[in-house]
Amino acid sequence: MPFDPRRPYDDLPGLPPSADIETKPLLKACIEARAALAELKSVGAAIPNQAVLINTIPLLEAQASSEIENIVTTSDALFRFAHDEQAADPATKEALSYRAALHEGFDSLDERPLGTGTAMRVCSRLKNRDMDIRRIPGTALTNSASGEIVYTPPQGEALLREKLANWERFIHEATDIDPLIRMAVAHYQFEAIHPFLDGNGRTGRVLNLLMLVEQGLLDQPVLYLSRYILRRRAEYYRLLLSITRDGAWEDWIAFMLAATTETARWTSDKIRAIQRLHVQATEFVRTHAPKIYSRELVDALFVQPYRRIQNLVANGIAKRQTASVYLKELADLGMLAEIKVGREKLFLHPHFVHLLTSDDHPVLPYGTAESRKH
Ligand SMILES: Nc1ncnc2c1ncn2[C@@H]1O[C@H](COP(=O)(O)OP(=O)(O)O)[C@@H](O)[C@H]1O
Ligand SMILES: [Mg+2]
Repeated sequence: MPFDPRRPYDDLPGLPPSADIETKPLLKACIEARAALAELKSVGAAIPNQAVLINTIPLLEAQASSEIENIVTTSDALFRFAHDEQAADPATKEALSYRAALHEGFDSLDERPLGTGTAMRVCSRLKNRDMDIRRIPGTALTNSASGEIVYTPPQGEALLREKLANWERFIHEATDIDPLIRMAVAHYQFEAIHPFLDGNGRTGRVLNLLMLVEQGLLDQPVLYLSRYILRRRAEYYRLLLSITRDGAWEDWIAFMLAATTETARWTSDKIRAIQRLHVQATEFVRTHAPKIYSRELVDALFVQPYRRIQNLVANGIAKRQTASVYLKELADLGMLAEIKVGREKLFLHPHFVHLLTSDDHPVLPYGTAESRKH
């Protein structure tokens, strides 16, 4: 029977696909992607303060992955409310939940291998309520412009669980297939199964990063993979549908491999730039405020771009009064910008925000009129 977008696709074939998914061009693209990931892994490991990476890159990923689903927030708002979720607007809150889901999924890998349980946990954290496998019919994917139904996923809890069990086995047992090709195939399959009422896209993209970690290709989930997908959202949707309709696996896998290569390189460049800015900050504080300089103080300015007096106290850098003096002095030097939010004082690190939110990787010098504009 030909594929009918309005009928539940209960015939979704199990994995592995019957098509050739290890063509020569794909294997070549794999080599490139693997090299880019290996570089990211080593650049990431070289950062002395790991908190910097884990607090910042996943927020960028959370923003882009949420935006793919039309949940739009700015990275600036995300950084600002990173420790104050309750005060944030709904879209920012949802993107912060995405980051929490990514962290929770990452932690869960210590307890059990990635699978249906991981997906449920990630989706529940993401949606802030218990998400179970779909029981009621009626879920369909529509074209956001025309409202027309483009795909109806399989129906019935037992069938969904069966397909998820097959998906899970493929991830762990098809070890003769390159892990990156496996990730691409598994991502399509997860989206085609569409096990939840909502949150499938975001959960699937969290699972992509977790697969890379589980396969040892990354130590931490610090790849900004959704950056590529967001920029090519229409293509992403089109390629997913083309697998269902025409079995077009090769284009899809090529897309995901290119996404991996490009974003791994981008993320490595970003991390290297963060390191350069850190070196510059160290020199600047040493030269202009030698009395307050400590390695821990400079590190604290890079854990998050928005800092509170309380953060320095919690890190054991100084007691409240002294910590306040430190941050004020850095503000006087133009390195931080003091902003008042209600009764609270926030110290923004503009160069760091600028670096994190720019698409290229600008490392501006501290203390010049030019740099103070940012
Ligand atoms: N034709 C398709 N076949 C399978 N999955 C698709 C198709 N088109 C889009 N998708 C996936 O469905 C996701 C959206 O599903 P949804 O449950 O609303 O996720 P979220 O709540 O995270 O937005 C998209 O991000 C994409 O991954
Ligand atoms: Mg949705």
